Amino acid sequence: MENIYKELFEEAKKASQKAYCPYSKFPVGACILYKSGKKYTGCNVENASFGLTLCAERNAISTAISQGETTAIEAVAIYSPKQKECVPCGACRQWLSEFTSSSETKIILESNQNELTVLTMEEIFPHGFKLN
Ligand code: THU
Repeated sequence: MENIYKELFEEAKKASQKAYCPYSKFPVGACILYKSGKKYTGCNVENASFGLTLCAERNAISTAISQGETTAIEAVAIYSPKQKECVPCGACRQWLSEFTSSSETKIILESNQNELTVLTMEEIFPHGFKLN
């Protein structure tokens, strides 16, 4: 396994410890590596009005954009202590696709054998919506 994936995964794990999830008690952390080489993390932030909850992946993307990141996403690691292979939800797949230039962008997840599963955007979101 490439070391950088392991590093992203460990940062996602750390980010999950900051989650605000009193309702679901399902913490999630994400760490996104951009082509610039910079990494940004995010955790889920819930709300008493449940539908307003912000997922970890979208939180990380918002942080990247608000800090001036302009390059494309290279890889994203996602972690929840509650679930192996915690894949991004549909809304987050659409968000990720907005900032992804290649279908080879990697999605890094914890696998069942305490190892990492590496998927591609093409595998998890082949026909994302794009405005032309
Ligand atoms: N969640 C994420 O942070 N990312 C996902 O891609 C799936 C779901 C969060 C939202 C909510 O706070 C909790 O996980 C349970 O759905």
